[in-house]
Amino acid sequence: MKPAMPSTDWTALETLADKPLEALFEGDGQRLRWMAFDAAGLHFDFTKTHLDQAVVAAFVRLAEQAGFKEARERLFSGAIVNPTEGRPAEHPAERGEGSEQAVELAGQRHARMRAVVDAIEAGAFGDVTGVLHIGIGGSALGPALLVDALGREEESYRVSVLSNIDGQSFDEAVRNLDPQTTLVVVASKTFTTAETLRNAESALEWLTANDVADPYGRVIAVTAAPAKAVEWGVDETRVLPFGESVGGRYSLWSAVGFSAALALGVDAFSDLLDGAAEMDQHFRLAPPEQNAPMLAAFGDLYYAQKRGAETRAIFAYDDRLRLLTSYVQQLSMESNGKSVTADGAPLGRPSGSVVWGGVGTDAQHAVFQLLHQGTHLVPVEFVAAVEADDGQDPAHHRELLLNCFAQAAALMKGRKSEQGARDYPGDRPSTTILLSRLEPRSLGALLAYHEHRTFTEAVLLGINPFDQYGVELGKEMARAIDDPETRDGFDPSTRALIERAGL
Ligand code: F6P
Repeated sequence: MKPAMPSTDWTALETLADKPLEALFEGDGQRLRWMAFDAAGLHFDFTKTHLDQAVVAAFVRLAEQAGFKEARERLFSGAIVNPTEGRPAEHPAERGEGSEQAVELAGQRHARMRAVVDAIEAGAFGDVTGVLHIGIGGSALGPALLVDALGREEESYRVSVLSNIDGQSFDEAVRNLDPQTTLVVVASKTFTTAETLRNAESALEWLTANDVADPYGRVIAVTAAPAKAVEWGVDETRVLPFGESVGGRYSLWSAVGFSAALALGVDAFSDLLDGAAEMDQHFRLAPPEQNAPMLAAFGDLYYAQKRGAETRAIFAYDDRLRLLTSYVQQLSMESNGKSVTADGAPLGRPSGSVVWGGVGTDAQHAVFQLLHQGTHLVPVEFVAAVEADDGQDPAHHRELLLNCFAQAAALMKGRKSEQGARDYPGDRPSTTILLSRLEPRSLGALLAYHEHRTFTEAVLLGINPFDQYGVELGKEMARAIDDPETRDGFDPSTRALIERAGL
């Protein structure tokens, strides 16, 4: 018999009186001292959220009822935390935390990754100037973010990430690559994903059409299903495996990060893992009141469950982090977008929120109107680096930061006006995260923070964040539409669309 899910009672939280942010500052002279702190090299400021001692205490009680401490220990010890698939979630093992066996295996796989990077640098593949990284979802968003955020000047190879099945994406991805000197990295946990395999076939055709003698010899596969990659045609010496228990959206720490490790260097990749490991320790050991992922999850739940917020937004005041929102979107929405608990019972309350966002200051001139004066409550997370990147004009960076802080202050303060159109209600929540500099270590800590925030939210809701059955039906239907035997069974609207498109 399955163990019963722990039951949580949200009444205490639901009946707490809502206090405006201004009153929270006035009522607690120590607010800045305890709600703004450093963790794993990042600075977190939760003071502009509606969390206070009473709200945090209510969440701590909920966490106790949900068996949070035990669940967290299970995550870090490599016990089963993904009951529907009967697996642990072993991404922390990539950073050194987990069962002895998983940590050892992850170490060996990292060593193999490094050996392949060294071999490429030593000329085993001849002259290499570019990498076409093919993957989708968790097999693409992480590497794309890393290369975009940290590559720029230092990038030793031009990395182009191809995910979409749209042929335009393929053309775009290979436009600036030289087929003679490009390596193709096919990353797919399952090695069955239709888009990835189709794009990989097209990459082989592209190499062949450009007279590359041994196209398969230019392919490196990254997968948790090595036999499938070999069957597809990649020599096993060029297969970089990672663990079945590392979920796609949690996989950039594994061999899935290979293209980024190649472009940024293995030392940078190690620093990324170290930053994440530091956040692991913080999440494991810090008390809830000073625990950044826990407080962030409490905030997410407070606004979604108590105040009816359906979305939350992330704005990076740093162009290098323009892909952060997409990355966190998959992480959070694929993990916690579920309407049943881990044992299949109805959730009975809102699931994880819709995550959206963008880049400041651009977003100020596009969507911030709604954040300031719209009727929707949207908790915002601002992310910025204190120091500009080398070579950047400090005057620009100063203005970037001024704007970031001004937006958070304006959301909270608002402005009374006689004229309705100029009235800002204020009391709108935000969190600010400051990195000293955007570098591998701080980015690793930031991404691990999001993972643990997602995990905390899942445990309190009773959700299994590590499966994703909700993406299967659409894949099956795409196959069924493609099959003349089954397509007639579709609804009239879909049949008419198929006919109109001449499929
Ligand atoms: O369809 C969703 C999904 O399974 C994601 O969870 C995953 O990150 C992505 O597709 C890619 O899967 P794979 O790495 O197996 O190709």
